[in-house]
Amino acid sequence: MKEKAGLFLDRDGTIIEDNGFLRDTSQISFIPGTLEALKCLQREYTLFIVTNQPGVASGDLSLSDVDNVNNYIIEQLAANGIIIQAIYVCIHRLEDECDCIKPKPYFLHKAAKEWNINLNLSVVIGDHPHDIELANNVGGSGVYVLTGHGGKHIDELSHESIVVQRIKEAADWVLALPNYENNIQKLKEELYQAGAAIKQGRLVAFPTETVYGLGANALDIDAIAQIFEVKRRPRIDPLIVHIADIDQAKSLVTEFTESAMNLARKFWPGPLTLILPKNNLVPDLVTAGHQSVALRIPDNQLALELIRQAAVPIAAPSANPFGYISPTKAEHVLQQLGEKIQIIIDGGTCNVGMESTIVSFVTDIPAIIRPGGIPVEQIEQIIGPVAKVKHQQRNSIYPGQFPRHYSPQTQLIIAGQDVETITGNRIGLLSFGPAYENKSYAAIEILSKSRDLSEAAANLYTALRRLDMEKLDVIVVQLVPDEGLGIAINDRLRKAANRSKNVTGQD
Ligand code: TXA
Ligand code: MG
Repeated sequence: MKEKAGLFLDRDGTIIEDNGFLRDTSQISFIPGTLEALKCLQREYTLFIVTNQPGVASGDLSLSDVDNVNNYIIEQLAANGIIIQAIYVCIHRLEDECDCIKPKPYFLHKAAKEWNINLNLSVVIGDHPHDIELANNVGGSGVYVLTGHGGKHIDELSHESIVVQRIKEAADWVLALPNYENNIQKLKEELYQAGAAIKQGRLVAFPTETVYGLGANALDIDAIAQIFEVKRRPRIDPLIVHIADIDQAKSLVTEFTESAMNLARKFWPGPLTLILPKNNLVPDLVTAGHQSVALRIPDNQLALELIRQAAVPIAAPSANPFGYISPTKAEHVLQQLGEKIQIIIDGGTCNVGMESTIVSFVTDIPAIIRPGGIPVEQIEQIIGPVAKVKHQQRNSIYPGQFPRHYSPQTQLIIAGQDVETITGNRIGLLSFGPAYENKSYAAIEILSKSRDLSEAAANLYTALRRLDMEKLDVIVVQLVPDEGLGIAINDRLRKAANRSKNVTGQD
């Protein structure tokens, strides 16, 4: 049986708020982002909880208090599809000199034996230096979170430690680890080198939560010119500039209107791009000669670390040849642009999988010029009604909005209710939900068994790529419900299906 990688989670202050001795389940609240993080992490790791509960030995807690709390946590996680393989509890105090208290590796060795876990591939996430020490004691990797007691003990950590805000941010680092021999220092070093490369005017492909970007120093014209060359992108198509914080965004614009700021505060870091009036620092080549610049703080720790290391804003379009399907895994970038890019940071699979929503603030009424990872409804909740530029009009009003985009080489047909009538040997089906087995498609890709729009968005580009490699005559697809993320998915499907030639004649 294949050895697996384990993820050992501390409990209090890491996955739930540290509310002192917990005697009652009503005192339990999950730290924001925990469910999303664990859902992603369990695709690669077997999950465990390892917790010190010295309150039992000191008489502040009973064993059944601890059990009740643990059972509640396990049930809540299970209700969200998250499986905790085992929960290990040390009930002693430090002075009891037991074998099982963290940072002693007793429980990790037990897990390794019982569940066939390779500890060298394993990770500990916790809010106490003893969690990091525990990882080191078994030859694994540790990620320190600043929730719980994290802030209080940070000075006790060695300077090489990976420190993040919460478990959600820890997940980005952890999910990239398998691509770096599970060596967190190696990943950190790679980001440092990549930051230096950006500073020197070179290109770096990097993960974001939406798609992989092909990045260069946004203030260096020669570096930007290389992006257009490598992608074969027309220079009339402006680039999005990625920054690490709101102050850095402010340094590139002449005005940051209040509504734009409200959106930034709510959704950054995240899949939202704001178009604002640019200042002189931003080269015209980046904005295709427009007096506005597109800005975004990506919600991915590796991307943010890269921007911080580079210490300059990073202009980045999606890292694919112009017009083709956007990359959501490092291997997609490697397959298509590998010969032209020296550095590709492998952050695993992008978890949103759909490009950012672009909101322009250069007109009186803010306008959505590309639907994306943040649903339009959520934007309107913050800033009120926005103009929605029609798919067909976008190209004439806004730069870089081409009728054909995100396309496979294989012809894509959007079918209606008649989807069942289109059959044949070399027909592929891209299905939103479970597909009927009685149809003889040459290949079938299912976007989400449970018809979940965010799962479908995350799978869309990989599914399209796989079908495109099947040498099919045609791929048929039905549009998804036109709401929430469905609006962005349908936008991409329509563009992918468009056979018309683009402005550049590219087809
Ligand atoms: O999620 C994303 O947004 C990804 C990741 C890498 O951040 N990036 C991305 O970039 O999708 P790209 O190059 O594929 O799309 C950039 C689009 C342009 O095609 C254009 O429509 C719009 O952003 N854009 C950029 N600057 C603009 C400007 N100054 N005015 C109007 N539209 C602009
Ligand atoms: Mg803790």
